[in-house]
Amino acid sequence: MPSSEPKTKRSTVTLHMVSSLDGIIARKDNSVSWLDSGSVYEAGVSISEEEAAAFVKTIDCYVLGSRTYEHALELGWPYGDTPTVVTTNRDLKSTSTKKSVEFYSGDLKRLVDQILAPRYRNIWLVGGAMLCQSFLELGLVDEIRLTIAPVLLGEGLRLFGGSPTEDRWKLKNVVAYKNGFVELSYSA
Ligand SMILES: NC(=O)c1ccc[n+]([C@@H]2O[C@H](COP(=O)([O-])OP(=O)(O)OC[C@H]3O[C@@H](n4cnc5c(N)ncnc54)[C@H](OP(=O)(O)O)[C@@H]3O)[C@@H](O)[C@H]2O)c1
Repeated sequence: MPSSEPKTKRSTVTLHMVSSLDGIIARKDNSVSWLDSGSVYEAGVSISEEEAAAFVKTIDCYVLGSRTYEHALELGWPYGDTPTVVTTNRDLKSTSTKKSVEFYSGDLKRLVDQILAPRYRNIWLVGGAMLCQSFLELGLVDEIRLTIAPVLLGEGLRLFGGSPTEDRWKLKNVVAYKNGFVELSYSA
């Protein structure tokens, strides 16, 4: 019987977040000084601006929740001209002057399978906690790339605060940076 499912999955959804040692991704007041480098780890690697820019070019599309979007506008847009989908149930069109931004409301599986996957190979889900939690619950995340900052924050918004079930992931790579941050990569 013919199937409408593609034979091989060509797109990948990577959840990427920066977390404190105690699993927090945002302070209550939304300040971001905790993301500044505070230590030096001599055995770590560092990447040049050119390498970072070349890496960012491999990302075909960003997906973010509306609160992350609003915070990104305040801080200074970090996603350049790369196509970006913002999930919201509000009408936020008037907040965007960027041609690269589209708004989406509704079924997240439909967003990934029918809208993003046919258009983009390397899809990055970049927060926040609420949207990431929904993607994880729906099984829409292929890879988790977690960057751990060398700081305990005590309180704030937890990335995995609402995880209802045990879910095992395979460790794929670990990179320690000179600034004391560690990047952990996992696949489903
Ligand atoms: N450390 C990091 O790496 C990192 C990364 C990203 C964000 N952050 C921080 O995390 C905080 C924001 O995270 P958050 O968990 O509060 O919010 P969020 O996930 O960024 O956004 C939540 C909003 O997304 C929309 N949404 C979610 N699911 C939807 C669906 N199925 N359909 C339509 N809309 C949907 C809703 O928007 P509406 O309410 O508009 O309907 C919801 O209120 C910010 O402080 C941000 O700076 C940190």
